[in-house]
Amino acid sequence: MTNFYRKKNVAIFISGRGSNMMALINDMKSEKYHPGQPKLVVSDNTKADGLVFAEKNLVETFALDIEKMEDKLIFEEKTLQVLKEKNIDIICLAGFMKILSEKFIKSFSKPILNIHPSLLPSFKGLNTHQRALKAGCLIHGATVHQITNKVDEGPILGQTLIDITKNSTAKQLEEKLLPLEHLLYKKVLREFLKESGKKILTIN
Ligand code: GAR
Repeated sequence: MTNFYRKKNVAIFISGRGSNMMALINDMKSEKYHPGQPKLVVSDNTKADGLVFAEKNLVETFALDIEKMEDKLIFEEKTLQVLKEKNIDIICLAGFMKILSEKFIKSFSKPILNIHPSLLPSFKGLNTHQRALKAGCLIHGATVHQITNKVDEGPILGQTLIDITKNSTAKQLEEKLLPLEHLLYKKVLREFLKESGKKILTIN
C-alpha cells in the first residue's frame, strides 16, 4: 500500500513518571500506519523519569527546570522554538503539571490535548481521587480533552469510567485508573489524528 499521507509530528509534555507518554510512544511506534509519530518529549523537570524512556526510544527531548516565574517564560519561549524546528503538529500533555500561558497556546496555534484523572467537568485541578471519594461518588474516571485557556476545560474527546467500590482508597483508584488512562489516550490520539470525529467511551 502506498503511503500518501504525512504522519503528524507529535510532542508529548511530561513532568515526572511519564507512563501515559510511554503508552503513546509505544502505540505510535508499534503500528506502521499510525497517523502520528513521536517527534519530541518536553519536560519542565530535567530529572523526570520519563525522559530516560524517551531517550532510550530515540525520541528527542527538551527539558528545562521551572523554579520561578521568570523560568516559565523562558521555558515557554524556548519550547516554542523547538516545536517550530521540529515541525510539531500536535501537543499531548501527559502528566504535565504546569499551566501553559494563554500566549503559549495562541503562539503554538495547533491542537493541544490533555489527560486529566477525573470525569470532567467534575474535579478540575489536583487530588482528584481523594475529592471523588470525599464527595461520595459511585463512579470516577479520566478524561482526554482539547485544551483552552481555562484550566481543565475544553472539548471532551474521550472518557474512561470506573466504579468506586466500598472502602476504596485514593491509591487504589489511581492504580485502577492509570492503565485505563493509557488505553484511553492511545485511542483518542489515533482518532483525533485521523480526524474521524469519533469520541471514545470505555466503561470498566
Ligand atoms: C496521570 O494520572 C494523569 O492523568 C495526571 O497525572 C498522572 C501522570 O502520570 N495528570 C494530571 O493530573 C494533569 N492535571 P504519568 O506521568 O505516569 O503519565
